[in-house]
Order: sequence, then structure tokens, then C-alpha cells
Amino acid sequence: MRTPVFAANWKMNIGPHDAAEFMRTFLGAYAPHMDRTVIVFPPALSLCAVAESTRERADIQLGVQNIFRESRGAFTGENSAVMAKQAGATFALVGHSERRQLFSETDHETSLKCAEAVRAGLVPVLCVGETLAERERGETEAVVLRQLCAGVSELDPSQIASMLVAYEPVWAIGTGRTATPAEAESVHAVIRAALRERVGSDGDRVPILYGGSVNEGNAASLLSAPDIDGVLVGSACLKPDSWTRIVLT
Ligand code: PGA
Repeated sequence: MRTPVFAANWKMNIGPHDAAEFMRTFLGAYAPHMDRTVIVFPPALSLCAVAESTRERADIQLGVQNIFRESRGAFTGENSAVMAKQAGATFALVGHSERRQLFSETDHETSLKCAEAVRAGLVPVLCVGETLAERERGETEAVVLRQLCAGVSELDPSQIASMLVAYEPVWAIGTGRTATPAEAESVHAVIRAALRERVGSDGDRVPILYGGSVNEGNAASLLSAPDIDGVLVGSACLKPDSWTRIVLT
């Protein structure tokens, strides 16, 4: 009942000029499929170029990789959810582990960003995931639940039911070490149970994506697990041909 989601996180790659070229190649190889959702998260500077190239392709959704907690003002260098929406975004990644680790983003900030995304009319995609040390200490579930509960703390049940969650174990991101479908599913099931606890059966509507070294060779087996509703892809989405093969999984 949940449509599979294929999301590409370009991170700090592919500027506006290269983005137009990338999208021409990708859209030429990928015909619209109504049975899946495709979301591209370009860097903010490339958002308008990607929006322009998908003008005729309502099947391709766009998102922004990060937003600031306020909607406007004297915050040099930041991008707001309102501006991202104007530029063509429908989704906003919040709390990606690189934001948490490299930019010291806290759980509290993720809650403000999720709330700001919703206020601006964007759908938050809240990223959660444990580090290797936390996993080895047996803290995976506690960390993921802490991040999840904090991230949604400013949202009401209907807003929670309309968002997306991405489980991205930090030890699997950009390392070539993917969680097995069973490892990922066990955490996804914990997230699903927590969502149900908060919003009842509407928690079943929330797509829970897996991210961390997803590629064309492992996407299908990950997606076959009951609570893995989509993939959030980094390295393997940077070449139009491998990204196309993943989307066609
Ligand atoms: P990766 O990145 O596919 O390169 O591991 C995923 C992500 O960080 O979203």
C-alpha cells in the first residue's frame, strides 16, 4: 500500500550546469512509472536548474538537502524552506548524519527544522541512524528512537503521518558497507512501531527509507523487506546510468 520511494541525495555534487545535463540523460532513459516515487535532492544552487529540466515530468519530485529553522532574515549563507519551495522543492531532508556530525546539528534543531518545513508546505524527510560505536554498545534502538521522537516533537499527528523517515546507519554511509536487509528491517520495524504508537494506524502510511551504500546490486533485496519502503542513495546516484538502474529496480 506504500508506493516505493527512490530518493537521490546528490550532497555537494553536480552544479547547475552539470545538473541540467544529468537530468537530460536520466529523463531520456527513465520513462514515467506511476508505481514509484522518484525524488531528487540536488544542492540548493542546482534546485532551479533541476526544476526547469523536470517541468514536463510531474513524476519527478524535488527536495532540498537542508533548511534553516527560520523562514527569512539576517542569516547569511542559509536557505529557508520557503525559498526552497519557491525553487521547486516538495521535500526537505532534515537531520542527515552529515549535518549532525559535521555541522553539529542537534536533535532540538531537527525538531525546529521539521516544523519549519511543514509550515512552509514542504514534506520533511527526517534522517535517523546510529554510529558504529553506538551499534557496538547495543544502543541502536535507543539512538534511533531518541532522534525520531525529538525530530517529530513539534508536529501534530496528521503532520507526522504525512512525513517520511529515513534510517541511515552512519557506519553504512559512503563506506560500501550496507546493512543487510534483516539488519535494516529490524530497525525499520522499531521505527514503524514508534510511529504507530504516536499516530495509530496512520503510522502505517509513513514511508521509511533505508540509506547507506545502496546500489543497483542491493536495492532490490533491501526493498523486499516489509518495512523498507524506499531507498535514499548517495554515491550510486551520481552517475545517470547507475541511478537509472536503481530507480528501475
Ligand atoms: P551513500 O549515501 O549512498 O553514499 O552511502 C547515502 C546518504 O548519505 O544519504
